[in-house]
Amino acid sequence: MTRVAVLAGTGSAVPARVVTNEQLAGRMDTSDDWIRSRTGIAERRMVEPGTATSDLAVAAGRRALRSAGLHRVGAVVVATATPDYQCPATGPIVAAGLGLGEIPAFDVGAVCSGFLYALATGSGLIASGVAEQVLVVGAEAFTTIIDPTDRNTAPLFGDGAGAVVLRAGDPEEPGALLGLNLGSDGLLADLIMVPAGGSRQRSHGNVAAPEDHYFTMRGREVFKHAVRRMEESSRTVLEQVGWQLAEVDWLVAHQANIRILHAVADQLRLPRERAVANLDRYGNTSAASIPLALDEAAGRGLFTPGDRILLTAFGAGATWGAAALTWPDLSNGPDLGNGPALSNGPGLSSAWELAAAAMVGPAQL
Ligand code: COA
Repeated sequence: MTRVAVLAGTGSAVPARVVTNEQLAGRMDTSDDWIRSRTGIAERRMVEPGTATSDLAVAAGRRALRSAGLHRVGAVVVATATPDYQCPATGPIVAAGLGLGEIPAFDVGAVCSGFLYALATGSGLIASGVAEQVLVVGAEAFTTIIDPTDRNTAPLFGDGAGAVVLRAGDPEEPGALLGLNLGSDGLLADLIMVPAGGSRQRSHGNVAAPEDHYFTMRGREVFKHAVRRMEESSRTVLEQVGWQLAEVDWLVAHQANIRILHAVADQLRLPRERAVANLDRYGNTSAASIPLALDEAAGRGLFTPGDRILLTAFGAGATWGAAALTWPDLSNGPDLGNGPALSNGPGLSSAWELAAAAMVGPAQL
């Protein structure tokens, strides 16, 4: 029988600090109305000083492990564009933070497509027999690379983490990861970039200008590439797994901009209400956005076991991808807070608990 990766648990965590559009409008030339109408974003989360990506990743990872009913996995893959350090990778720090022992743990860098690349990596570790279970995390302290006064980027991005546990299983099981498509075009590397801090800048031996350590983006061009690549990649993966578009129950796309999300849904002729959206509350959390959206939607009881889910993302690189999976029967249910007390670290909360408080309580699920 074919051995595939099967989704066995989900978790997420976001910093407690909320930054509203009004707060941003107080320090740059923008407005709540502009940000909402052009992006769909109302607020985002921001780490407190001293909180790093691995703190968010550990909190999300702990919840995903608990949701899967596991204390151990065979490997950890962390997708991030904002690692704790340039060296070492964040993966081993996360594995140690979760008490997972001396297992393989490393990072994948594909920025906003990072979670799909990490999912492919985790799935490959399972298919090759290297690991029976893999914790795949997308985590970002993205605001640490954003110029807090730049109206082109500060309204768009936020911090957070999402995680899934993959386990070895068979393609017929609910939760099976049935297909993946990935792509890149390095000719577009300068479309989205942090110019300083890497070997290109450092090899010159000059100290970089402070602003070169911040994230830059040509937003309008990114918009067009993002819609086209996510549509194409989605169509490719659907063809690969033999699903018709009409058979897709949920589109969980990278949460960058509600207009991008709707454009992708429209191009694919999927009803917009089938496109899961939480960017109004978190903005673009880069590699964290898809697992955060998955965990939150699962917590709200949106998915039924067996539902056909299409994931897609576009990010710096340029990179893009799509994945097709069915929704698992998570017998433990989402993280309802019934297990042992969580030690989240300062100022971290479960995205699902926040969402549940705001939108639908556990009793209504
Ligand atoms: N507040 C107020 N005005 C702003 C603004 C802000 N935060 N940012 C830009 N503007 C202005 C521009 O200066 C421009 O003014 P002008 O018409 O006088 O020149 C006007 O608003 C329109 O700017 P434009 O860039 O055309 O807006 P847009 O509709 O393309 O929206 C983005 C800008 C960045 C929101 C949008 O292009 C986008 O979401 N791109 C994709 C970004 C993304 O998702 N990146 C990550 C992908 S992984």
